Amino acid sequence: MAKMRQRGVSAIAWDDWVMRPVLIVANWKMNTTPADAGRLAAAMAAATDEPLVDRVICPPFVSLTAVGEALRGTGISVGAQNVHAEAFGAYTGEISAPMLAGLATWCIVGHSERRRDDGETDALIGRKLGRCREFGLRAILCVGESLEEREAGQAESTVRNQLAAALAAAASFDGGLDPGLVVAYEPVWAIGTGRTARGSDAAAMADAIRAACAESGVADPAALAVLYGGSVTSASIGEFLAEPSIDGALVGGASLKVDEMAGIVARAALTARARHAAADLAPAGHA
Ligand code: PGA
Repeated sequence: MAKMRQRGVSAIAWDDWVMRPVLIVANWKMNTTPADAGRLAAAMAAATDEPLVDRVICPPFVSLTAVGEALRGTGISVGAQNVHAEAFGAYTGEISAPMLAGLATWCIVGHSERRRDDGETDALIGRKLGRCREFGLRAILCVGESLEEREAGQAESTVRNQLAAALAAAASFDGGLDPGLVVAYEPVWAIGTGRTARGSDAAAMADAIRAACAESGVADPAALAVLYGGSVTSASIGEFLAEPSIDGALVGGASLKVDEMAGIVARAALTARARHAAADLAPAGHA
């Protein structure tokens, strides 16, 4: 496991070290209309101008165009919140990966609200990952345990099983697993509840996620970005970004508030600057 941990700036073992990006993803869920989404995105861009932090806004499908226009030239990327597992066909009301070309470069896959409300299984989620890869969308794969699973001591095994099943399904697509995959650890009991995981628990899970991804054939697990999600705010983000294993956050409720996002991205910028400073010190071949 030690090999997979990104070192803090102070105690660096260079042969283990890899610089991962710092990523803040806003999941607006079923909020905003096209009329107000563009304005909100423009306000977010003005308040979160930190180029070292990779920033993504995921509005509802119908607001992708407005948000894309508002974000042009800002360095902030646009993501979808879901995608269908097939490319085309008789699937009334669905949106496929090729339809998102030009509208989104990222896509959230396997969010627990879709697992819960739409019965999404790990196998289906894996096919969605494969379709994202086929059409050049960068996927953010969400995994996480329920409260009952955590209390039964099954948090890690639940997350490992979710990853193994989804990645097995994704690997059967042409092109195999995306080396640029991002995984968001989102304990279900922390989403929208105001309760967060402990930073140290989330970091331990991030290490377990990299180990599970390695077992599933992800090419460079040390380079895999792992986010935390679940009631992240400007007040709680620091606890997660203090953990070298955690590379950012998937933010729901707080991502609709400009001041909250400004605080979250400002904190993320501190971590991003520290990682870049470490990269500048790294011997050739390690940055
Ligand atoms: P929350 O949502 O920040 O509102 O808890 C996070 C998520 O569902 O991605």
